[in-house]
Amino acid sequence: MLAIIGGSGLTQLANLDVSRREVARTPYGDTSGALIFGRIGGHEVVFIARHGYGHTIPPHLVNYRANIWALAKVAGATQIVSVASVGAIRSDLAPGAVVVPHQIIDYTHSRGNTFFEGGDSQVVHVDFTHPYDKKMRAGLLQSAQRCGEQVFDGAVYAATQGPRLETVAEIDRLERDGADIVGMTGMPEAVLARELEVPYAAVCVVANWAAGRADSRDSIKFDRIEQVLQENLARVRAILEKLCQD
Ligand code: HPA
Repeated sequence: MLAIIGGSGLTQLANLDVSRREVARTPYGDTSGALIFGRIGGHEVVFIARHGYGHTIPPHLVNYRANIWALAKVAGATQIVSVASVGAIRSDLAPGAVVVPHQIIDYTHSRGNTFFEGGDSQVVHVDFTHPYDKKMRAGLLQSAQRCGEQVFDGAVYAATQGPRLETVAEIDRLERDGADIVGMTGMPEAVLARELEVPYAAVCVVANWAAGRADSRDSIKFDRIEQVLQENLARVRAILEKLCQD
């Protein structure tokens, strides 16, 4: 069972043949919304909109633990694909680019970022050397190739706290740290999936140049972001459909 977590602009999958919805109970509270079960190209899929179906939950308030727990333990997901919008730091990743990142730097704080809270259980330190699943990344890249969509293979994803966007100095710092793209939802989602041993990979759509990267006199234009996302999420849907057929 493949799980898809939809990010900004992706609150539904047009190509999902819906069979049922389920409000999942979790030990961590409510998920962002009901789990939506269905089929894409004959393959069973479960979908959840990370920010809620009306896009009302900001990145720092998403209940990542409830979402990942529900997908893994209620829906029985054996793979999770995250779709997320990002800002571009690296100069070849212009708005509209689709990227399959390979590494993460986590700048988030104050989020429920582990299932292992101590108490009576043993201390657990999961291996997170390679935060994204290698086979899933390869599958996504291959699906993109098969449907003729250009996708960038590899990028360092900087996960920021939000919900505000960054300053120019902050983006300069992320670049010095080695980050290529910046988003607000990549963590702790990825590590929570790892803790539950569910292979996880991300497909990111570049919505905008990160602060100061286009023309430092300009601020970021939100109406333009929405347009870029809608145009390019259609490409992501096509890639996911192909992934389900393979
Ligand atoms: N910064 C952080 N998160 C984002 C951005 C950005 O510029 N664009 C889309 N998500």
